Amino acid sequence: MRTQVGIIGAGPAGLLLSRLLHLQGIDTVVLENRSRDYVEARIRAGILEQHSVDTLTAAGVGDRLQREGLEHRGIHLQYPGTRATLDFPELCGRTVWVYGQTEVTKDLIRTQLDGGPPLLFEVSDVRPEDVDSDSPRIRFTDADGTEQVLECDAIAGTDGFHGASRPVVQAAGAGRVWERTYPYAWLGILADAAPATDELIYAWHPEGFALYSMRSPSVSRLYLQVDPGEEIGNWSDDRIWDNLERRFALEGWSVNTGTITEKSVLPMRSFVSAPMRRGRLFLAGDAAHIVPPTGAKGLNLAFADVTLLAQALVRLLQEKQSDLVDSYSDRALARVWRCTHFSWFMTSMLHRSGDEFDAELQLSQLRRIVESEPAARELAENYTGLPLEI
Ligand code: FAD
Ligand code: PHB
Repeated sequence: MRTQVGIIGAGPAGLLLSRLLHLQGIDTVVLENRSRDYVEARIRAGILEQHSVDTLTAAGVGDRLQREGLEHRGIHLQYPGTRATLDFPELCGRTVWVYGQTEVTKDLIRTQLDGGPPLLFEVSDVRPEDVDSDSPRIRFTDADGTEQVLECDAIAGTDGFHGASRPVVQAAGAGRVWERTYPYAWLGILADAAPATDELIYAWHPEGFALYSMRSPSVSRLYLQVDPGEEIGNWSDDRIWDNLERRFALEGWSVNTGTITEKSVLPMRSFVSAPMRRGRLFLAGDAAHIVPPTGAKGLNLAFADVTLLAQALVRLLQEKQSDLVDSYSDRALARVWRCTHFSWFMTSMLHRSGDEFDAELQLSQLRRIVESEPAARELAENYTGLPLEI
């Protein structure tokens, strides 16, 4: 088998990259080790920045997003006694969209399988090889158990945090990683309940952070700060609703309850691996970096990476110029570190550490954002998404 760009991983990063390259006349093959059903059912992010919406729409995969996505013009920031609204269009002229990662993935997969480039599910033992040469290859075993070799001009490692690509980049020896694990986790639920709020609520509470989000006018997505290692079995539905009700408490208002259809505990970490390239192997998305979910950045950062990478690969493969691939890692990492900082900042400001000095600093910072327009604008600009090139 031969293609121009071999793409490892059919998450949002790999699928969007394949689509962007296809539109520019570049061949790709996408290799995914899970099944289509598994990939489409994985419940993850829910907020799209303006640039993600614009990119998906321009790539011809935004029809359902335009119909079913919910445009949001701000967020509520809450701490005891106060629920304040940040108005994004007023502060920075941009908005965000609620549209689940599951839906983005389904739209991209459907477009790809409908006459787009090959997308192979349930492959195994995927190995990028000879990436320091101009003709790298990917060895893998296909779904029928047959060993295959995919010859490529370049390889994209979009195989997430546990994928096979990052170790190959780091094996060159000149790489570095930075990591922070946080002493909290999120318990997330999906519930058949109409959201009781117009905008997402980020709530600081003495018992821990809570987030009120949504997926549609009839489905709510809610999160509670819990200890890492917390057993989901210890959380009955009643215990979850009681905690949500307490942490979001506001005079004359209450959470809408309903049937819980999914619940899980998510760990939180920041992680950056540099460089995002070795020879003809390029990393993008969670393969190179992880952010805690508090800033809603993970999916958007993956899309920003592949937008830069697609431009760089088009220039390399069609115009035979290596300037954009040579600067790809540095340009992507500039934005990665900005989003890493913002996600760390939101996480640090909103989660309870148990330390009372920390708590007063957090409340002081929250009041500052609510009372000072420049402080609110800084949050709004980062939350709605900074330009692709910083
Ligand atoms: P992924 O989505 O991880 O996709 C990588 C793909 O590669 C997967 O399909 C995987 O099966 C495949 N793969 C892995 N290894 C191999 C291999 N060896 N060979 C072939 N294929 C392989 N972000 C937010 O902004 N908000 C959230 O609420 C949020 N919640 C999250 C909850 C969870 C449980 C997780 C894990 C992440 C969450 N994120 C969230 C982060 C966000 O979902 C990711 O940043 C986003 O999925 C990154 O996309 P990606 O394509 O880079 O990686
Ligand atoms: C979500 O809807 O899953 C979500 C929204 C905002 C965040 C994190 C997760 O900051």
